[in-house]
Amino acid sequence: MKTHNIGIIGYGGMGSYHHTRIEKPCGINFLSAYDISAARLEKAKNNGLETFDNLDDFLADSRIDAVLVAVPNDKHLELCCAAMNAGKSVICEKPVAINSEELEEMIECSKKNNVIFTVHQNRRMDEDYRIMKKIFDEKMIGDVFRIESRVQGSRGIADTWRRRKVHGGGMLYDWGVHLIDQMLCMVPGKVTSIFAEFQYISTNEVDDNIRLTMWFDSGVSALVEIGTCNFIMLPIWYMCGREGSAQIDYWNLEGRINHLIDNDIKFEDEIPSTLVGPSITLAPRAEDTMEELPLPKAEVDKGFFYKNFYDVLEGRAEPTVSIPQIKRAMKVIDTAFESGRIHKIIECDI
Ligand SMILES: NC(=O)c1ccc[n+]([C@@H]2O[C@H](COP(=O)([O-])OP(=O)(O)OC[C@H]3O[C@@H](n4cnc5c(N)ncnc54)[C@H](O)[C@@H]3O)[C@@H](O)[C@H]2O)c1
Repeated sequence: MKTHNIGIIGYGGMGSYHHTRIEKPCGINFLSAYDISAARLEKAKNNGLETFDNLDDFLADSRIDAVLVAVPNDKHLELCCAAMNAGKSVICEKPVAINSEELEEMIECSKKNNVIFTVHQNRRMDEDYRIMKKIFDEKMIGDVFRIESRVQGSRGIADTWRRRKVHGGGMLYDWGVHLIDQMLCMVPGKVTSIFAEFQYISTNEVDDNIRLTMWFDSGVSALVEIGTCNFIMLPIWYMCGREGSAQIDYWNLEGRINHLIDNDIKFEDEIPSTLVGPSITLAPRAEDTMEELPLPKAEVDKGFFYKNFYDVLEGRAEPTVSIPQIKRAMKVIDTAFESGRIHKIIECDI
């Protein structure tokens, strides 16, 4: 089996995670790291990598086939292009860029140098997502018409580059791009309109609370929500189909499907009283018309990204995270920012 060497630009949290924690086939070998931080280079050295404090020297190493770029978001364009201009294939961490214009420059650069360019959209293999995608694909709750996907915490954003606008901080770039990518990979068809609402609770500089709705031409409405000031968490997934609803409560993957077994609905003659007042339409249905089912098991291949990347380097596969997919997610982000700015629904064709 041929070995392909990878060098890392930015041996911080995610650079070191790729090196030491992500499952890889044996033909992928992390060889070296370049970082502007001496402390991070020391860490890389202790973890067995060759280290460089000079970008040109790092990129001049002909043993390196590909470079992983895992630096703050505002540096992706410059460093991905530097690597591609040195003839290296590139894996860029998400979000690939700050906007579609930057992304186009990167794509042009990869074409000019005839190198591979892909993005680490790893959350396509998260178990919660795979479970919901299975429910969606297999119509386990009938045709789905609404999906809500969210992550919430209560600690604000750490006071690092993630909290700085100039570095591409904020939660739309951070978590938003993952949830958007998942949604675009789950729901077929085009996004025809977008509305996004941004709030600035723990900082005035970058968005730390977002609600983004995408309407698809299939009729599905998809909400992506990220909160950093939530002391009671809502479910991470909530999905409505014509024959049931599915929910995942939180990170522990507990949840359920409530599935319709009898839709012969009988409404009461008298208006039922509930603790919150009278309601005929929304009063609970008879228990024996519905069954509670466990969430299905989903296949999760945690090694999918580098297995595919190895095959791409070998010339026998296309990148699993493709350029058209990356462009779509970036366009959703551009449109969301614009929608937030003008506080209006924006029609689109994404
Ligand atoms: N896919 C995921 O699940 C995931 C998770 C976390 C972070 N990320 C992404 O990874 C990237 C890095 O995030 P992080 O959490 O590792 O940040 P980090 O701050 O932990 O690490 C960034 C590293 O880049 C180095 N650096 C900064 N500027 C540099 C430059 N000009 N040249 C070389 N090195 C430089 C820093 O010294 C640091 O070691 C971001 O784009 C982030 O969005 C992805």
